[in-house]
Formats: sequence, C-alpha cells, structure tokens
Amino acid sequence: MRKILIQLDTDPQPSVFDRVVAVDAGVDELFSYGGVTPENVVGLVHGAIFTRGVPDLKNTAIFIGGSNVAAGELLFKKVQKTFFGPMRVSVMMDSNGSNTTAAAAVLAARKQMPLAGATALVLGGTGPVGHRAAQILAAEGAEIRVASRTRDKAEQTCFAIAEAVSAARVTPFATGTPAELDAACDEVSLIIAAGAAGVELISTERRLNLPSLKVAVDLNAVPPLGIGGVEVMDKAKDRNGVICYGAIGVGGTKMKIHRAAVARLFESNDQVLDTAAIYAIGQSL
Ligand SMILES: NC(=O)c1ccc[n+]([C@@H]2O[C@H](COP(=O)([O-])OP(=O)(O)OC[C@H]3O[C@@H](n4cnc5c(N)ncnc54)[C@H](OP(=O)(O)O)[C@@H]3O)[C@@H](O)[C@H]2O)c1
Repeated sequence: MRKILIQLDTDPQPSVFDRVVAVDAGVDELFSYGGVTPENVVGLVHGAIFTRGVPDLKNTAIFIGGSNVAAGELLFKKVQKTFFGPMRVSVMMDSNGSNTTAAAAVLAARKQMPLAGATALVLGGTGPVGHRAAQILAAEGAEIRVASRTRDKAEQTCFAIAEAVSAARVTPFATGTPAELDAACDEVSLIIAAGAAGVELISTERRLNLPSLKVAVDLNAVPPLGIGGVEVMDKAKDRNGVICYGAIGVGGTKMKIHRAAVARLFESNDQVLDTAAIYAIGQSL
C-alpha cells in the first residue's frame, strides 16, 4: 500500500523544504495543505483516518510544519484531539525545524561530553529552538540556564520546561547587559546559542575567557554568527580547547533526524513525534 504523508502547514504556502525532505524520506504520495488552522483542520484529519481500514492506517501519516511554532503547537494538539480509539494516524510536529534542530544540537554536545550534571547555558533560550534544546538538556539531567534579554521571558520558558520535564533543573538568566552575561556564563561547560539569525550573542573575547567551557554549539548560520570565533561549518572543531559546532556542522544531523522521523511515522498508526520522541529518534541513529 502506498505511503501517504499529509503535510499540514500553518503558512499560506506549504514549506518546500519539508516537501523535499518528505520525498527523500521515502513517502510515495505527499498531500500538502497551506493555511491550516485548528478551526479548519478537522475535515483534513477525517480524510486521513476514514479512508483506509485500521490495519492499513499506518500507511497514512501527518506532518505539521510552518514558520510559526506556536501555531504549529496548537495545530498539533487539535489534530491529536480529533483522533479517537483506533481511528488515528501517526503525527509529527516540526514547525520551523524546531524539534529536529534542537535535537541535533544536543546530540552534537552529547557526543563530546556527559550531559547529566553539566551546567549548560542556552542563549536565545526563549525561541522555539532554544526552548526545545533546553528542554532536552533538562531531560538529560543537565543543569540549565535559560538566557534571554528579558528575565520574565526566560522565566516563562523555565516554567514551561519544568511542566514538561518533572525533574528539570532550570534557572532563568537575563543577559541584556555585559555584567548579566558574565554571570550567566560563569562556570558553564556547554553553551548552545539559539538566538535569532544574524545576531552575535557572545563575543570571541568573552568566549575565550571561559575556562570551564568544553563545548560550544551555534545554530545561527547568518553572519554575524551567534558565538564569536565559531565558524558556520565547524563540526567538532577544537578552537582554543573548546569543541565547536556551527549551524551547518549541526545541519547534517538535523537532516538525518528529520528524514528518519518521517520514515518512523509509517511504522505504526499511533506515533506522536514531539520534542522528546524526535530526540529519541536522533539518539537511535
Ligand atoms: N541549522 C539549522 O538547521 C537551523 C534550523 C532552524 C533554525 N536555525 C537557527 O536557529 C536559531 C534559533 O531559531 P529560532 O527560530 O528559535 O530563533 P528566533 O525565534 O528567531 O530567536 C531566538 C531568540 O533570539 C533572541 N533574539 C531575537 N532578536 C535578538 C536580538 N536582536 N538580539 C539578541 N537576541 C535576540 C530572542 O530571545 P529574547 O527576546 O528572549 O532575548 C528570541 O527568542 C536561529 O539562528 C535560526 O536561524 C537553524
């Protein structure tokens, strides 16, 4: 039976990036819909669940994407609420590449150092990618500092992580001033920079003055990059005793995770690929 992926995108035009990955992940048919909202999604989900017999429903799956991650989360919830009993198909949420990118960033760090007990700073930790990276690190047992220009925003992210990960050790840090940034960086062994594209969050000089730092991962591919002195192509590159990854250095793993997650959707009809599940897939690669 042909594998059908139903791409539900919250943007008016379904993402070409997600379509290409779906094809490369081996789907036979790709049905793409743009402008999908919780209000208009029910009919689309019914089309997915009422067309094949229950044993065959594993050959139909849903992918949720789009640039607005908050809108994607709402759609993800609504799709799951529309399922009932065995009338369901597997579903994955990766709006703006948030889950696959965060998973790849943490996996890069995990290759280089034990995460349990590590003190990790996530710069830009309030954005979709940073939030998820911090959440995955918290689940790995690291002590997380969530950084933001605004302490309130960092606090909200910490609350959300604590709700998702029961034993999470997360602390909000404001990093709006040089003194605040110094305090946030003090004694960290891992920095993941997940700030907006084209914004430097930590200078080369400051990075070189962090004796405890072991691994630095920068997800910003647009100059100026997020961590001074880390290059976009860096992949486990030793720079002054710190193992560095740049956005493209992490990108290969991100693409592998994305393809593997789409392929995984077709193994059964009841999978829900959220942040933790997508990270678990990354670990298994
Ligand atoms: N390599 C890949 O495959 C891949 C895939 C997806 C995304 N990315 C990259 O990953 C990074 C994170 O993505 P995202 O979508 O989570 O980012 P985002 O939402 O655009 O920004 C993340 C955080 O950066 C902070 N920020 C925004 N403007 C800033 C400024 N002018 N100065 C300092 N901080 C600023 C904000 O935090 P506060 O307001 O709380 O300070 C924001 O929450 C981006 O650089 C993106 O391009 C890479």
